[in-house]
Amino acid sequence: MMNEKVHELLNAQINKEFYSAYLYLQFSNYFKAKSLDGFANWYMIQAQEERDHAILFYQYLQNNNEVVTLEAIDKPTPDFEDNMAVLKAGLAHEIYVTSLINDIYAAAYDVKDFRTMQFLDWFVKEQGEEETNANDLISKMELFGSDPKSLYMLNQELSTRVYTAPSLVL
Ligand code: FEO
Repeated sequence: MMNEKVHELLNAQINKEFYSAYLYLQFSNYFKAKSLDGFANWYMIQAQEERDHAILFYQYLQNNNEVVTLEAIDKPTPDFEDNMAVLKAGLAHEIYVTSLINDIYAAAYDVKDFRTMQFLDWFVKEQGEEETNANDLISKMELFGSDPKSLYMLNQELSTRVYTAPSLVL
């Protein structure tokens, strides 16, 4: 039997990851409306990855014969001041998600739930990569965002991102 707190946090994380997908879909929507299709593509793929994360938490609970309870997904932030505000909201969100993963890890550690800790190891690494990606994007926008020609090139670069399924298989 899984510890109640660990179970609760893992179940809540399904919702948080689906919210992340919804938030990034909103980012994609924002950039699509500005005809920055490369940025829209980048965040669409980000949304797909977040959906995958949600399913991984869902499957992990089911594989351990634990009850899954699906809750309503919050409405994402509807509008942003400018392009940079979107990117910064993305970084802030990833830092928040990292703190959530750390909280689950700490709860699992407290009750010696080594299986859950091993499952979460992949997410700890993934969060590191996601924060790096969000930071890189901000740096590039700082360097190139104010010049239309450079922004065009950056948009082209982001249009090349392709979706790959997560390396974690349950
Ligand atoms: Fe699944 Fe970017 O957190």
